[in-house]
Order: sequence, then C-alpha cells, then structure tokens
Amino acid sequence: MASGPHEQWSSRMAFIFAAVGSAVGLGNIWRFPYMAGEYGGSAFVLIYIAFVLFIGVPVLMAELTIGRRGGMSPINSVKKLAKAAKKNPRWSWIGGLGSFGGGLGLLSYYSVIAGLVLAYIIKAAMGVFAGFWADPSVAALTGDAANAAVRVQSAGEINGLFGEPGVMIFWHLVFIGFTVFIVARGINAGLEKAVTYLMPALFLILLVLVGYAMAAGEFAQAVRYLFEPDFSKVTGETVLAAVGQAFFSLSLTVGTMLAYGAYLPKNISIHKSAGIIAASDTAVALIAGLAIFPLVFAYGLEVDQGPSLIFETLPIAFGAMPGGAIFGTLFFILLAIAAITSSISLLEPAVSYFEEKQGMNRWKSAIFAGGAAFVIGLLSVFSYNEWADLMPLGFVGITEVNGNPATFYTLIDFTVSSIIMPVGGLLLAIFAGWVVLREDMRDEMGLPEGGIFKIWHVLVKYVCPVVLIIIIISGLT
Ligand code: PHE
Repeated sequence: MASGPHEQWSSRMAFIFAAVGSAVGLGNIWRFPYMAGEYGGSAFVLIYIAFVLFIGVPVLMAELTIGRRGGMSPINSVKKLAKAAKKNPRWSWIGGLGSFGGGLGLLSYYSVIAGLVLAYIIKAAMGVFAGFWADPSVAALTGDAANAAVRVQSAGEINGLFGEPGVMIFWHLVFIGFTVFIVARGINAGLEKAVTYLMPALFLILLVLVGYAMAAGEFAQAVRYLFEPDFSKVTGETVLAAVGQAFFSLSLTVGTMLAYGAYLPKNISIHKSAGIIAASDTAVALIAGLAIFPLVFAYGLEVDQGPSLIFETLPIAFGAMPGGAIFGTLFFILLAIAAITSSISLLEPAVSYFEEKQGMNRWKSAIFAGGAAFVIGLLSVFSYNEWADLMPLGFVGITEVNGNPATFYTLIDFTVSSIIMPVGGLLLAIFAGWVVLREDMRDEMGLPEGGIFKIWHVLVKYVCPVVLIIIIISGLT
C-alpha cells in the first residue's frame, strides 16, 4: 500500500472508542494526578479544564478535519492541504515534528512507565500489597503510626523496582513489543472490538475505586484540594504545564489525531466526536484524581512526589481492602490496556508515513519505529538508577526543572510536553486558522456558516495562537 487509501474505522462507535482509547491512558490516571500534585492542586486543575475547552477541543477538531481532508499520514496530509491552499508545502514539518519528535519521543518513556504497570500486575496478583499491612513493622501499629509504616513499605516496593534497570528494561521491551505487534497488524476489527469492551470496564473499575476512596479516604479534603480556587501559586510554569497536559491527555500535536482522522469515514460528525472525546477524557482524569488524592491524604503521602505517586498510593488501598489482590490485579491490567490503546496511537503516525514514503510494509515500519522508541526509552530507564545523578544539560547550568533533578527522563518529558506540544499546538492552530482554506475546513466539518463553525474558527485563528504565544514565552522565561 504505497500511497493508496489507508484502512478506515468500521463504524462511528469504533472510531470513538479508538480515539477515546488513545486519549484515555497513563496521562489521565498516572500523569494528571501527579502533575496536579506538583503544581498546587486546584490552581492547576481549573486552568487545565479551561485549556481543554478553549484550546484542546478546537485543536482536536482541527486535527481530525485536516487528517480526514488529507486522508494520508500526518506529514502528507498537512502537505496536501498546504498545496491545495497554494502555500508552502514545508508546513508538513509540523506533521514531522509531531510524528517523530513528539510521537516517538513520548512513546519512548510512555512505554517505560507502562512497563512498571505490567510489573505491578504481577505484584498485585502475588498479594504483595496485602503483605505491606501484614509486615510485622506495620501489623503491630495502629492509626497514623500504621499509616506511616505502610507508606514506607509501599515506597520501598516502587523504589526497589526503580533500582533494577534490568527488570525495567525487560518490561519496557515487553510493552513496546505488544505495541509494535498490534500496529503492524493494522487498524483491525480485533483491536476495535477489544477497545469497545475494555474502555467501559476501565471506567467502571475507576468508579469503584472512587467509591472506596470516599469511604476510606479523606474525600472532602481531596475535593477541596482539587477544586477550591487558589491562584496564588500560579506561575508561568504552571500554565505551561497545564497546557502541555491538556495536549498530552487529548493526544494532540504528535500526529495521532491527524492519523486517526485520516481513517475517519466522511459521514461521522467531527465536532460531536471531539466533544465526546474531550468530555470522556476529562471525566476520567478528574475521577482518577478523586480516587487517588483521598488516599494520599489519608495515608500522609506527599502530593508532590512526582511520577511514583500512583504506584505508592493505590497499592496501599489494594492491600487494605477485601479482595484487594483480585481488584488490584484487575486495575493494573486495565491500566495496561488503557496504556496500550494509547501507545499504538503514538506509533501509528510514524508508521503510516514510512508506509507511504518508502513503501515499507507495516511490519518493517513498526519494528523500525518501535525499535527507535525502545532505544531512546533506555535513557529514561537509567534516569531512575544508574544515571539518577547525571544531568545531561548540567554543562549549560540546567540541573533542575521545576524542582525536579534534570535527568534524561525529566528533560525528555519536558521537551515533549512543555515545548513540542505547546509549539506544535501553536503551529497547528496557525495552520488551520490562517493557511488552510477556510472553506475547505468548513466543508470537511460539514457545518453551516456561522454558529459552531464560526466559534471554532475564531478560537483557532485568534484565541489559540495568542494564548499559546503568551504561555510559551512566559513559561520558558
Ligand atoms: N493521551 C494519552 C494519555 O493520556 C497519551 C498520548 C498522547 C497518546 C499523545 C497519543 C498521543 O495517556
């Protein structure tokens, strides 16, 4: 299939589940809670929600529309629309920056974290979490003393894993392997079907976890922490992080939604789909926050401990609840599935490009692109152990990013989510608002003049660029 039409989603449902499957992932359940914790809770959350609405949704609509109009890989769809508008075909570089810098860069460490999730499936199934409570150092205590002791147990477990690069690499490889395998086989009915059952199951389990957090945790404190407005802590960096998280969580600016749009049948409404995707994605992130923070407070954990947050809090709860081994295992399995339905969408943009460009088959393309992500991911693995003290940009004086040591992991994450995503979002908004023919966008969206289309157009043409330029400048200086 050198340049022929790509496969198409088999139904509206299939597309919605695939797109929601891409959006809902580690970003919602692992990253959102720890980012909220690091950046001051509600100040971050409320800004985040505003960005999803006014920046995320318009860019999501733009990506799906450009993708469907172009019908090709992100790079070639953008090129095609630039040419149709008689503009510089080099605009295709936004597709390239996204697919390669963003998509593969993000996949490299996404897979490392998803690998931890796989390792935690085994731990949960083996009853390791109940063991925290049964440990003699905990069992003899009650109240806060018991909580403090169980916290030490849980922290020891995740730090133990971070201390074993060989084990982390093994799981990282397993996860990339799954991703490559699925992508290589194509956008098939098997995947669509799996996603259709698994996403609702994930949602259900999360609700049960919230129920547990309500009963056993400091729920009211968590609600206040996440939603009570307090903008005193907001800095340029908070705003930059919030916009990065909005793009991250909605799978934007890295080619994913451009690619998924290309497989979208013409009769499916783009604006309605974008609304459903954004609403589901935001709901899952908020619910995850409401499941996790009550436990963080109940057990005296630090809110700002960063990426290890969910790996420390949830096992404490699983260890304490009846049936926690089964439930914990199920939870980490579902989290792994949420991660896989996202990681395939990170690999797809690069693979679809190789297919068109080199006429490489999907297997070769997927192995090649996945292999690159695997190798880059090793930098993140070692950031947690062998190279924990290595600051690659130390020679230019960068040893910290928002209080975190500037390891390879921190720097790659910062580059993708705080530089490539905001800048990519800016370029996409400019492209959709100023470069592509307005009529082409309207026609592809199937919307009448005025109303929704007009609001969308004003948002991408003026609001997104202005806001993003201000955020990028104030966040980076
Ligand atoms: N949205 C995914 C998540 O929240 C991550 C992702 C980003 C997937 C970009 C694809 C593209 O986990």
